[in-house]
Amino acid sequence: MGSGGRLVLAALMAVALAILHPSAEAASLHGGGLFDSIFAFGDSFTDTGNNPIVFGWYNVFDVVMRPPYGMTSFGGHPTGRNCNGRLIIDFIAQGLGLPLVPPYLSHKGSFQQGANFAVGGATALNSSFFHIGDPPGASPFPLNTSLEVQLGWFEELKPSLCQTDQECKDFFGRSLFFVGEFGINDYHYSFGKKSMQEIRAFVPDLIQTISMGAESDRARGEDSSCPWDDPVRMRAADPRRLRGRRRFGI
Ligand SMILES: *[C@@H]1O[C@H](CO)[C@@H](O)[C@H](O)[C@H]1NC(C)=O
Ligand SMILES: *[C@@H]1O[C@H](CO)[C@@H](O)[C@H](O)[C@H]1NC(C)=O
Repeated sequence: MGSGGRLVLAALMAVALAILHPSAEAASLHGGGLFDSIFAFGDSFTDTGNNPIVFGWYNVFDVVMRPPYGMTSFGGHPTGRNCNGRLIIDFIAQGLGLPLVPPYLSHKGSFQQGANFAVGGATALNSSFFHIGDPPGASPFPLNTSLEVQLGWFEELKPSLCQTDQECKDFFGRSLFFVGEFGINDYHYSFGKKSMQEIRAFVPDLIQTISMGAESDRARGEDSSCPWDDPVRMRAADPRRLRGRRRFGI
């Protein structure tokens, strides 16, 4: 772990400070210049606005684009977050003095300070795995937004951020890579469809896929992955949580 461990700790501290001093926005970390950019992968726990685009591709109604989402924050407009207020990734970005991480699929500006590839409802395993044996007209969920697809989008963006190996090493050496949460949806889409035995059987694959995703970030010269377990409790970091609504699992 080494430096990776330290960086995970830094991220945890950012969250902890946000909890302790919600109004100060973890001010003590501001200006630290620890990172120049944040690249994030995951599902609804981390998605800051990709899901409306993906749901649009599949003509699926997106519940988070109507009230109460966004009613009391972000200028009163839904952002695509599966939360009325800010997500952990937002607190971390603010804690590090960086802009909120822009959603890769909808942001029209620069990604020099980071990009968010997370999509609400995303699985760690390939979505095709969950559609095996689907009858005609079955739900399109999980959509094709697995960890592998998100890493593909990152590869697609990379040439616009750095060219040579050295340039990329320097650039991503100052990036925080935030991987997660992943896994909940893999279970969510399986309960009621697969047997407990079948679900247990894919757990090792699931864990390996998430580990490999996190490791492939590290291998790029980044030493800063944050695989999260279920961070539901950390949502307490959002002072507006009591007014917020969140549909669990997507
Ligand atoms: C996911 O699917 C792609 C093809 O669509 C395949 O190349 C890849 O190996 C699959 N990955 C896993 C983890 O099954
Ligand atoms: C999923 O998306 C990836 C990347 O956009 C694409 O290469 C792949 O063909 C898609 N798979 C399916 C089953 O649509």
